[in-house]
Amino acid sequence: MLRLSARKVLVVVGIFCIFSVYYKYIPKGHAKVYDNFQRPFLANSNDSQRFFTWRNENACKSKKSFGGKFYFKNYFDGNKTLCLDNDVMPDPNGKCLIYSFGVNKDWSFEEAMQAYGCKVLAFDPSIGKKPFKYSDKIHFYDFGLGKVDDLSDPGGWKLRTLGTLLDKFGHTNKIIDVLKIDIEGAEYEALLEMLESGVLMNVKQIAMEVHNRYDDYYGAFWLLEQSFERFESLPNFACTDKNGTVTSHYCLELSWFNKRFRKNNI
Ligand SMILES: *[C@@H]1O[C@H](CO)[C@@H](O)[C@H](O)[C@H]1NC(C)=O
Ligand SMILES: *[C@@H]1O[C@H](CO)[C@@H](O)[C@H](O)[C@H]1NC(C)=O
Ligand SMILES: *[C@@H]1O[C@H](CO)[C@@H](O)[C@H](O)[C@H]1NC(C)=O
Repeated sequence: MLRLSARKVLVVVGIFCIFSVYYKYIPKGHAKVYDNFQRPFLANSNDSQRFFTWRNENACKSKKSFGGKFYFKNYFDGNKTLCLDNDVMPDPNGKCLIYSFGVNKDWSFEEAMQAYGCKVLAFDPSIGKKPFKYSDKIHFYDFGLGKVDDLSDPGGWKLRTLGTLLDKFGHTNKIIDVLKIDIEGAEYEALLEMLESGVLMNVKQIAMEVHNRYDDYYGAFWLLEQSFERFESLPNFACTDKNGTVTSHYCLELSWFNKRFRKNNI
């Protein structure tokens, strides 16, 4: 019961934050530039489903799935789709840098990015591991991606904002080739913080598992998509019915690139 009411408080705070961000950043009079999917607030849950399952089919010519492994019988999870078009692709010349939040027991994405030539910082406060060197180019840290720097969170998780972590690891002015976020529902609040702080400016691509629990959080994604292009949206069958039917508690794998890096239509 306690947990449930805390969650409700978070939802209310989250909605308040979205309105704050919205009124702060969206110039009045620009409210008609988006189409039906992309208006800032939803009328009903069908709109929500249409919004989250939408992607710009023409945005990326060369999409590729990285990582993933089989669970149970034939259920494959843990992979993320990235765009390999020349201007937005992760740096292929060994300077690529990945920030990956949410590992659990699956290092397949991180290993795939290492094989691609990236240095990977992998974060997960939920698996009871201390920081360690997983492999030559993959380092693990027990921080979690938070909406604030908070040492007093339940479970004693060390939650930090992305900005704080970039600063700590000396990457504030570096290009982050891929930001992977797979943090089981905490993505919305982290996203709001990242939008407010402007820390996504140097992030080339984002691959995120989105848990569509709260229609109201959709405003945060609408805001993100003022500067990021969504080139992929795939159902994650871990959160759908067994036959793949999308339900109100489904989750999706969304990928974006930062439009700032787009040079031309390749
Ligand atoms: C959502 O779509 C379904 C199928 O098209 C329809 O039956 C239902 O009434 C819609 N719900 C809302 C709230 O519009
Ligand atoms: C992950 O890989 C599976 C199997 O190849 C594929 O069906 C699915 O679309 C991929 N998902 C992502 C997010 O790339
Ligand atoms: C998929 O499963 C849901 C219940 O889990 C059921 O309502 C629906 O009819 C099924 N759809 C198909 C195409 O079998």
